[in-house]
Amino acid sequence: MGNLRAYEEDRLGFLQRVAENYGPISAFDRRTTVLSDAGLARRVLGELAGTAVIRNNVLQEPIPVGEVASWPVARRLMNPVLRKRVIDQRRSQIVRLAVDHVRSSGARFFDAVEYWEPFTSRTAADYFLGEDGGRVPALVRDLLASLPAVAGNVFALPAAVPTPSRRRVRNAFAELRAHLLPPLTARARDPQSYDDAAGNLVRRAAQMEPRPGLDRLVNVLIGNLLASYTVPAAGLAWATWALSQHPEWITRVREEAPRALAPPDTANAQMPHTTGVLMESFRLYPPTWLLTRQLSSGAIVGGYALPAGQTIMTSPFVLHRDPANFDDPQSFAPERWGPGGNADPANFFGFGHGPRGCPGRDLAIISCSSALAALVSQADFEVTGDPTPNPRFILRPRALRIEVKVRRVG
Ligand code: HEM
Repeated sequence: MGNLRAYEEDRLGFLQRVAENYGPISAFDRRTTVLSDAGLARRVLGELAGTAVIRNNVLQEPIPVGEVASWPVARRLMNPVLRKRVIDQRRSQIVRLAVDHVRSSGARFFDAVEYWEPFTSRTAADYFLGEDGGRVPALVRDLLASLPAVAGNVFALPAAVPTPSRRRVRNAFAELRAHLLPPLTARARDPQSYDDAAGNLVRRAAQMEPRPGLDRLVNVLIGNLLASYTVPAAGLAWATWALSQHPEWITRVREEAPRALAPPDTANAQMPHTTGVLMESFRLYPPTWLLTRQLSSGAIVGGYALPAGQTIMTSPFVLHRDPANFDDPQSFAPERWGPGGNADPANFFGFGHGPRGCPGRDLAIISCSSALAALVSQADFEVTGDPTPNPRFILRPRALRIEVKVRRVG
């Protein structure tokens, strides 16, 4: 109980102290092990991915035991749909959404995460569903808004208990599901008429044996829509704040903006400064700051025999700030990711690692680079407030406000 209380009071500080005082692997309590070492984290998330499994679904309900092992099917569906080559074909649309978002900012002050959410959610809805994506961001927002009462709340009642909060989650989920079924059904009837990612998902499913049903596709779609709403918006809020603290990087990102916003045929041009700023922001402030697994059978980790049922936690925030993994880890140094830089990508866990690592990584990098390029080229901006990292479900700044002043054209 002592550790749980200390953890709840200061989650990041607690995990950093555990890393400093107890080394690569330590016991949080009898059922929970904390990994503070990049090599051990890679082992659990990589080699042991079949044994160290994710036990909660997107609604934070326990996944039924019989379904825990079925994640490779979902990955076979979604990975090809989110390949960089496929995303590049829709790049000009992503750029247009980024520029429209910034240019329609108005002179209001916004919460920095909320400022970016309409862009990240619209980009994902458009990527997956094209013109059928219209109402999707609002429905996803309702579902996400219902989750904090149950997600990450250690005192929440078990998921099977139908509390009012749980009912709200279920209702929001049912509404989103009902909204997504008709466009998926239309694509299943006539797959060749749709060139969006939902159309691709349906075509992928048709090639698989056994063929995943529409229910499965809806769940994959919902997982992706949830994951691409607040997480990348929090990443962009951190990157925007980092830029505001390091104006020399605003200049560098601005120099690259014409390339970032260029038509698709030139869009594969390298943008080391913009990518470096993003990677460095995700390193210092990984929105997905905690990765959790449960062992479905016993395994040896770091020389310890851990039993079935053991929960394993590892924090990208802690790993990224360990001098064993990155030189001078507390400083913001985007050049470490550029040509000649010495960042070791194997020690970066901002997108997870291994077969359950983020399938949306390329979409996230392309859409977030477009967003930063649009911001610095179309507007001046100021970020003020309290950047203290607040590690709840997602790592977000405690209270950052952004003011965007759009430049006149011409
Ligand atoms: C800056 C943006 C993003 C960050 C930092 C991020 C980070 C992550 C991380 C760390 C994981 C692994 C979690 C774990 O191992 O437990 C993950 C999983 C996932 N991400 Fe992302 N993500 C981002 C954007 C996106 C986008 C744009 C999409 C969809 C288009 C997406 C879809 C997913 C899905 C579906 C999973 C679960 C995969 C599975 O269960 O196997 N993410 N993400």
